[in-house]
Amino acid sequence: MAVIETRDLRKTYGTLEALKGVSISVEPGQIYGLLGQNGAGKTTLIKILLGIVRKTAGEAELLGAPAGTVNVRRRVGYLPEDHQFPYYHTGRSLMDFYGQLYGVSPDDRKRKIPEALELVGIAGRMNSKIKTYSKGMKQRLGIAQALLHDPDLIILDEPTDGVDPMGRKEIRELMARLKDKGHTIFLNSHLLGEVELVCDRVAILQRGEVVREGTVAELTKATDKFRLRLGEGQAFPTDVVARLGYAVAPLAERPGTFEVTLASGQTIDPVVRLLVEGGLSLRELVEKKESLEDVFMKTVEGAEPGVDQKVRTVQQVQRVRAVGGEG
Ligand SMILES: Nc1ncnc2c1ncn2[C@@H]1O[C@H](COP(=O)(O)OP(=O)(O)OP(=O)(O)O)[C@@H](O)[C@H]1O
Ligand SMILES: [Mg+2]
Repeated sequence: MAVIETRDLRKTYGTLEALKGVSISVEPGQIYGLLGQNGAGKTTLIKILLGIVRKTAGEAELLGAPAGTVNVRRRVGYLPEDHQFPYYHTGRSLMDFYGQLYGVSPDDRKRKIPEALELVGIAGRMNSKIKTYSKGMKQRLGIAQALLHDPDLIILDEPTDGVDPMGRKEIRELMARLKDKGHTIFLNSHLLGEVELVCDRVAILQRGEVVREGTVAELTKATDKFRLRLGEGQAFPTDVVARLGYAVAPLAERPGTFEVTLASGQTIDPVVRLLVEGGLSLRELVEKKESLEDVFMKTVEGAEPGVDQKVRTVQQVQRVRAVGGEG
């Protein structure tokens, strides 16, 4: 059974279509990332799942029940974006407040609150007022709050927002540990490099539509290009390689390095054999892969470079298409 399942999910705010038929499925134990530009609809999707915002049409299910079901909500931890915790709380008293809200017993709260704060690296400051916390410390507190009641599903809206690089790495490691413990994690992020490191599966949302979906491995597949470099002073046998039927070109940005592109059905092995049999020494052989950022930029730029969601008239859309701005 999927932990999160949406089918043709739609949401309109007035005339604005924030979600235009989103279908995704998140399996237990996955870390699933939802990517998209500002205004793509990421937070809207999360809010519908949690029953904070009402869907306009389609289906949304959480842990097998319709989104918003009260008993199910208790099994979910949530880090909202732009959370504003009451400043008069200390880290510890805020956690206690949320613990009560989620029905965690007093004994469990006593034990689990320092544990959770330790896990996110702010236990040393748990008795300070939140108003004295830095942005990253507040974010860590928000994550601790989402974990306290040991939820099956953890939904994090921009978990590393405002967190320094070291802290981001810690949060990634924390997510990996939570996954190992059997939790499912659903997160929104703009930080593509990060998502690539931590997520099993991702969906790219653009103006309310899923434009790409798959495992990180599937999306960042090999590009059929290899980078090769020979030992110092050795000439790359460009002509011979080309005669074997490969496209080969020197890489301008890396002198001495050559890029070989495979045609369909070709492998790099004959080229390697040729070099070795020719007495040349291969110093570098790298298969070029697309990063998630490459995939994202291609997908997003292909549609509308650098522009956030806008409601456009049919004439405007036609004009953009006519000049080739939208693929
Ligand atoms: N309460 C609301 N009333 C009207 N429009 C809204 C409301 N909430 C969101 N929207 C609009 O819906 C669209 C999607 O917003 P959403 O917050 O889901 O985007 P997002 O992908 O989370 O963006 P960001 O990366 O900036 O957080 C935006 O155009 C936004 O202006
Ligand atoms: Mg958002």
